[in-house]
Amino acid sequence: MTDIKKGLAGVVVDTTAISKVNPDTNSLLYRGYPVQELAAALSYEEVAWLLWHGELPSDAELAAFVDRERAGRALADNVKAAIDLTPLSAHPMDVVRTAVSVIGANDAEAHDSSPEANLAKAERLFAAIPAVVAYDQRRRRGEDIVPPRDDLDYSRNFLWMTFGEEPSDTAADVFRISMVLYAEHSFNASTFTARVVTSTLADLHSAVVAAIGALKGPLHGGANEAVMDVFDEIGDADGAGAWLESALAEKRKIMGFGHRVYKNGDSRVPTMQAAFERLVAEQGGSADALLALYHRLADAMDAAKSIKPNLDYPSGPAYHLLGFDTTTFTPLFVAARVVGWTAHVMEQLEANALIRPLSEYVGPDERHLED
Ligand code: COA
Repeated sequence: MTDIKKGLAGVVVDTTAISKVNPDTNSLLYRGYPVQELAAALSYEEVAWLLWHGELPSDAELAAFVDRERAGRALADNVKAAIDLTPLSAHPMDVVRTAVSVIGANDAEAHDSSPEANLAKAERLFAAIPAVVAYDQRRRRGEDIVPPRDDLDYSRNFLWMTFGEEPSDTAADVFRISMVLYAEHSFNASTFTARVVTSTLADLHSAVVAAIGALKGPLHGGANEAVMDVFDEIGDADGAGAWLESALAEKRKIMGFGHRVYKNGDSRVPTMQAAFERLVAEQGGSADALLALYHRLADAMDAAKSIKPNLDYPSGPAYHLLGFDTTTFTPLFVAARVVGWTAHVMEQLEANALIRPLSEYVGPDERHLED
């Protein structure tokens, strides 16, 4: 029997210059820079530029990009209409997937896959997705749409459009950090999906729509929501040990733990955990209880299975404290990862080969209708 690499585990399918995940040293580099350094010092807009271009922007490049981003934040009427037509029973990821499809259909350069057009489309998507996410959460709460403000940076404007009030400095910074940490992570399932679609020479928006579908699953991006559901299910720190014992006895996968690449801890967790703790310190009260539960479950999982948290473990409760509904968490991941996806779309096209693996047939031997 052929040596089958189930789940493509351990298979190196191409080169990339966008990010380097090193599980041995628990490190993640974006274009060579440690992600922790970027999260400490740069705006999400600067990190997006770095991922797309390979180098940090000059002051003039950044200023021009920021202007374009601020000018591209409002949604076209037919995108708003498509959101309105999507039933509230649909998951917000279905709404983002649908909205990105309409944004793509509107784009005058939809079928131009030149590097210049793809970069321009990537920038436009980057600018528009926050308004989709914010609008969807507001309509689910029966609230009116809040128009974007061009005097606020990406993170502050995102929170402004979602909540209709200006965030605290801590809230805006924690949100920015989460965007930076989620922006890119090599050949994860959704990024690989985007590269597969791109390899057929389909357009950038088709690749992003497919990637959104891949991100929705709880083994990938959907885990940040699932983490919050677990915290809700457990209730408080004192319930963590018993809950974990019975969940493991039922062979449940514990959401927010484990990783295909990192086996000794996720390089992004310490930075996101510190950000989550800053929010807890600012809010106190029930936030303290959430942090206690967070630690107790992680300690119990470590003791029981030696499996460490991944980025979704601290980001889920952080998004909760920022005020987002749990079902909005994975759409926030879309807003961040769209940078990585689109950088990979452009890289795939630089040296494209159709991605088409083989399979080992295990069905019935040849047979005939008259047998
Ligand atoms: N809860 C319980 N057990 C887990 C686990 C988890 N979150 N993650 C891994 N394991 C166990 C598996 O059951 C398996 O045990 P076994 O050898 O006794 O069968 C072992 O660890 C190896 O896991 P495996 O599923 O082969 O690893 P993988 O590389 O295929 O899976 C994930 C990686 C991310 C899919 C997996 O860890 C998972 O489902 N995590 C929860 C979802 C999540 O947080 N996803 C976000 C990832 S960033």
